[in-house]
Amino acid sequence: MLQTNLTRTFGLKSPILSAGMAFVARPQLAAAVSNAGGMGFLGADMASPEALADLIRQTRRLTSQPFGIDVMVPFFSEEHLDVCVAAQVPIVNFFWGYPQWEWVEKLQNAGSRVWMKVRSVDEAKGALQCGLDALVVQASEGGPGFSLTSLMTLLPAVVDMTPMPVIASGSILDGRGLAAALALGAEAVRCGTRFLSAVEAEAQSEYERRVGASLTDQNIGNNLFSREWPDAPADVAPERPVDEWTTPVVLFRPGAANPATASDSVPERGFHVAAFADSMGTMASTGMFPDTNAPVSELRPAAEIIQRMMRQAEGILAKYSRWQAVA
Ligand SMILES: Cc1cc2nc3c(=O)[nH]c(=O)nc-3n(C[C@H](O)[C@H](O)[C@H](O)COP(=O)(O)O)c2cc1C
Repeated sequence: MLQTNLTRTFGLKSPILSAGMAFVARPQLAAAVSNAGGMGFLGADMASPEALADLIRQTRRLTSQPFGIDVMVPFFSEEHLDVCVAAQVPIVNFFWGYPQWEWVEKLQNAGSRVWMKVRSVDEAKGALQCGLDALVVQASEGGPGFSLTSLMTLLPAVVDMTPMPVIASGSILDGRGLAAALALGAEAVRCGTRFLSAVEAEAQSEYERRVGASLTDQNIGNNLFSREWPDAPADVAPERPVDEWTTPVVLFRPGAANPATASDSVPERGFHVAAFADSMGTMASTGMFPDTNAPVSELRPAAEIIQRMMRQAEGILAKYSRWQAVA
């Protein structure tokens, strides 16, 4: 059994967390991961405070284990804060901006742990001033334009900056990724794409099929989803209608500013994220954010995904400790 400070803090059987994927990571997935000994996260995406409260209630009905919520700062209001405080959600993980001091304080006073997802050393330095309980590190594996640094570089750099637990995220798909992340100093991994193909994920089957069939190095970063989500380069498989948008839609270069927010010319042509989510699987497009193909092509229960990852990581770590014993 792989145990870290973080698994001990939350009583987890494995250091595997599922990411709060917008529209996909709903109560069934979060609860399945938590019930399997990992920790599931709900994607709060653009949910209203009432809808968020309902997602939390549904999750509590499905699990008595700890779970978290992923919230994006631009879509987080005082009303959302009140919902999280009242519900005493075990973990609230912020992204896309720093959480305000008062939010962190109120949540911690209510018994929540407050985390933040960071993508650069600078952002991690800023996060260290926020009074947080842990950092999630996600680097260029999170998609084009997301970060200029690889996880292999950024993760140990952040681990060296803080005694706080650090969680690795981005392109971790199996036990090899888990073992590597632990070796680099992470206390857990947080997987999104890997759980897209969980039976309990709310991705529609056509979307899953297309993610499974897409090839990582063919995906393109663009701003198709920038209407509600400025500065969000998405990793999108190059099929219709993405092909049709290739000329008018701006493709991202890592580190480049989002042209959609600099001018009004592109958003007119972008998709509405919510509308896209509603039509996932029916429209001739693949999704946003998938990082890879092979491991997400098989539909499995979340518990089995976790079990397999753990078995593989434990095997790898045992192999290296045998090598060390021989040396
Ligand atoms: C379908 C999908 C939706 C996502 N939605 C969000 C989101 O709403 N907010 C967010 O911060 N990250 C979102 N992410 C990113 C995940 O939270 C996570 O950081 C990422 O998936 C980790 O990389 P991986 O997919 O390679 O494991 C999403 C990812 C996917 C695959």
